[in-house]
Formats: sequence, C-alpha cells, structure tokens
Amino acid sequence: MNISFTKSGRLKPKPSSEALGFGKLTTDYMFIMDYDAGRGWYDPKIVPYSPIPLDPSTCVLHYGQGIFEGLKAYRSPDGRVLLFRPEENARRLNNSCDRTCIPPLDENDILEAITELVRLEKDWIPSAEGTSLYIRPFIIATDPFLGVHPSRTYMFIIILGPVGNYYPTGINPIKILVEDEYVRAVAGGTGEAKTMGNYAASLKAQDKAEKLGCIQVLWLDGIHRKYVEEVGSMNVFFKIGGKVITPALSGSILPGITRMSSMELLKKHGYGVEERALSIDEILHAHKTGTLEESFGTGTAAVISPIGELLYKGSNYMVNNGAIGPVTSMLYDTLTGIQSGRLPDEFGWTFEVK
Ligand code: COI
Repeated sequence: MNISFTKSGRLKPKPSSEALGFGKLTTDYMFIMDYDAGRGWYDPKIVPYSPIPLDPSTCVLHYGQGIFEGLKAYRSPDGRVLLFRPEENARRLNNSCDRTCIPPLDENDILEAITELVRLEKDWIPSAEGTSLYIRPFIIATDPFLGVHPSRTYMFIIILGPVGNYYPTGINPIKILVEDEYVRAVAGGTGEAKTMGNYAASLKAQDKAEKLGCIQVLWLDGIHRKYVEEVGSMNVFFKIGGKVITPALSGSILPGITRMSSMELLKKHGYGVEERALSIDEILHAHKTGTLEESFGTGTAAVISPIGELLYKGSNYMVNNGAIGPVTSMLYDTLTGIQSGRLPDEFGWTFEVK
C-alpha cells in the first residue's frame, strides 16, 4: 500500500502512566482508507487525529452497519514494540465484514496499516506494567441514504490510545450479574461478529448490573436462559473440579483471541480444558458442593480478569472466597509476560514492529 502522510501542526502532551484507565485518550494520528463500490478500498492515509464530518443521513448512524477490532501494542523491557497475534484480528475483522455485508480488506493491508500507524506513534506506548497502546480499527458504512440496504461506501479507520486497566478496580476480582432478563445474542444473529449493535444491545443490562453493584453482566443463552455465554467485554472461564471449562463457540459468542490463547496456554500447562455448553445450574451446583474453584474473563481490553462473585436471581455466590485463584494468576502472568516481551514467546504469537 502507498500510505500518504499529513503532518500534524500540534502534538498532544503524553500522559503519565499512573492514571491511564481505558479509552480516555487518543494519540496524534489516525489511519483512514475509503471504499467505493466502483473503486474498491482506496486512498490509504495517515492524518492528524480529528473529528470526521458525516452527513446526518449516513448509514451507520441509523442502522449500525459498522464493526470494530481491539488489539494492543506493548513496549518490551529492551525497548521493542510488540503486537499480539495481529493477524488474528485481521482475520476476525474480515469475518465481521462478511456478517455485516461490508466488503473485506486484504489482511496484509490491515496489518500494514496497523504497523505503520503504531510505528509512527511508538512514543505513545507506555512502559509501566499493565499498560499498553490500545489499537482500535473500525469500519463504518458512509452512504448518505436512509433505505435499509448495505452501503456502497465505507471508511476503515484506526485510532490509538494509551491504556492501563480496563476496570477501575485494577486486577482485583470483580462481581458480575448473571443476566436472566435481557439477552445479548442468539445463534444466527450477529453475536459472533464484532459489530457495533451487539454493544448497544448490552447497555441496558450493563446499566442494571451497575445499579446492583456489579461491574459487568454474564450473559445466558437467548433461548433457554440457561447456558452461560460471555461477559460484557470478555469471554468467560470456570474451573470446576480441576477442569477449566469455557462455553463452546455456538454462533452467539465472540471468538476471542485472548480466549483462544488462554486455552492454548492452559493445555500447555497441563490443564484439562473443555469447550462445551455450561449451564448456570452446573456452576451453582459446583458452588454448593465446593467444586467451583475459579472463574475469570478473558479479553484484549480486560486481559485476564478474575471473577470473585456472581449475583444471580438476588443471591450472591462467592468464587474462591473472592480471591484471585492460581490458574487465573498463572494465565495473567504468562499472557502479559509474553505480550510485553518479559517472557519468551514459545508460541510465536508476538509480532515486532520494527
Ligand atoms: C477488546 O477487548 O478489545 C474489546 O473490543 C472489548 C471492548 C468492548 C472494550
């Protein structure tokens, strides 16, 4: 790709690592590429970060034809810039394109765009433990047309921002609401695509969870309200009787890259991992009989987040006495160690931006 570059006249001050949080800051530049049905994807450019003017009748503003990805760039102790399995994000972006009638991109172009932008903005990558540069590629449908129809024009944009912990509680165990009223997705819907509407659909339950003192929602399946699916911004795992179980990708669950990597790490460390339907009743039975050992969520933004308590139908269920369990700790340490270049990468997961 021939990516054009427009220099910014004024660069923002870089923040200190202490109070980064998640999603509050953006860097100086962004990547944009346009699509037109007649030309395909064209005009890749890196330009100063700025608002994008949109016609009020723009398709994405009305019908949500838009998708996104999330990945991170890390600064290793020896100063290298590392991405974690970015080719998986490129592949998933195209899968989300397919589900939402957005024309696919060349996956090498996606990687090149990410790499070029991160290289340019590498001074924004924080180096304190638990921090990184979050990368948010997204595509929006830009036709100014109010008919319900796939757009003929799109924008592929990548923005960046330095981040710390996703949850204000840091890596302390979180309390989640097992949601039995609202549903996020059903098989055949858009649950396995990273499309904007899935997140809009989650807000009502998220709001309810927060009012009940929980940080996120554990979704149950949309048909029986029985099988666990995923947590707000993460996939979910439960350790029961020595086995680590995560819901199988049934069509309504996001195929997480941290989920996939965690399963590979667990297998390597000798844990039995089961991907299968897991009912809330089985989890509560395990709680009752003392075999519910640990629970955690996995996600790019949330990394590995221990779950210390479940709230279901008005009753609270502590997991591992609300403490971080050994498997959760091992996964957090190993995964963040590999991602940030502090541990050797035997899997070949990291990708150096040179
Ligand atoms: C990520 O983990 O990168 C995500 O995209 C989840 C997001 C909704 C915060």
